[in-house]
Amino acid sequence: MEILQHISLKEYNSFGISAKADYFLEINNEEALREALQLRDHPEKFIISGGSNMLIVNDIKALVLHINIKGIEIVEEDEDHVILKVMAGENWHQMVLWTLERGYGGLENLSLIPGSAGTAPIQNIGAYGVELKDSFESCTAMEIANQELKQFSKEACRFGYRDSFFKNEGKGKYIITSLCLKLTKRNHKLNTTYGAIEAELQKKGITHPTINEVSQAVISIRKSKLPDPKELGNSGSFFKNPVLDKSEFDRFHQRYADAPYYKVSEDTYKVPAGWLIEQCGFKGKRYGDAGVHKRQALVLVNYGSASGKEIMDLADKIQKSVLDKFNIRILPEVNIIK
Ligand code: EPU
Repeated sequence: MEILQHISLKEYNSFGISAKADYFLEINNEEALREALQLRDHPEKFIISGGSNMLIVNDIKALVLHINIKGIEIVEEDEDHVILKVMAGENWHQMVLWTLERGYGGLENLSLIPGSAGTAPIQNIGAYGVELKDSFESCTAMEIANQELKQFSKEACRFGYRDSFFKNEGKGKYIITSLCLKLTKRNHKLNTTYGAIEAELQKKGITHPTINEVSQAVISIRKSKLPDPKELGNSGSFFKNPVLDKSEFDRFHQRYADAPYYKVSEDTYKVPAGWLIEQCGFKGKRYGDAGVHKRQALVLVNYGSASGKEIMDLADKIQKSVLDKFNIRILPEVNIIK
């Protein structure tokens, strides 16, 4: 076990923030994770995996454990379905491509989401009408306090919109080491009702898309709107779309009749935070090296050497401005590490 010291975390977070870790250890299997958690010299641990949903504001004094446990295997299959076990350190998108190459359906709408498989359940990643929970079977996580592996069913994960048990009661208590996904081998349930996907398929003249064609459409849409973290540091949507109750929504809708919205249930509505932020004039704005993306106002970007604090200050400014103008509180989707 080789603990490194004074490591820059720039390569380990998709925002490309140059924070430092005093101590850093690469974890390649569950046994190594167990041993690392037992290290008495380093009582404080900090877990980093794909680093695609975090904003690191300060240097990290704790021992950083980089979860890099790899492996994908089929654990069960019949004529219709396959259950895959995916280890936490697998890159999410590479894993999605692996499933598509074998003709397994279910993850095509979740193509090109940055980050690793192990962190996907934490915020129940979602895009274009599909969420992780739709193909999720279970996950295994190590309890930090006693290093025991525990299995979590879908119900136990209590998935919500960008939310789960691991963001609430389970926060800071578990490290996900693997997850099981149930995918289709035939009779795939395609989800192409999301406006942008339909339009993209139509553009290509595709009327009966395959799972690969849906994936290609998603990839084109994402590439046209969302910056590639390898080229421009970012963490995807920085804020969650606010959910308004009926009376709040009615008041909002009366004043801003042309604002886009989605009906979530009989008495709840989601308003795109990207639209609210754009209306406040932030789209494409740059403050030093911190900025708001020019094609999607929900995405904050690091043009090179922005600090975590600079991005956080910009996020605060945006939140205040949206609250002043619309009386709507938007909350970060990204995990802010102070
Ligand atoms: N909009 C604007 N201005 C903007 C951005 C968006 O007016 O700058 C409007 C769009 O015109 C559209 C609406 O807002 O009418 C929704 O925009 P979009 O389809 O881009 O989706 P979103 O609600 O902004 C969510 C997810 C994305 C996901 C897309 C597609 C959240 C927080 N974000 O964004 O997820 O890819 O839908 O499903 O729910 C992520 O979580 O990192 C992420 C990228």
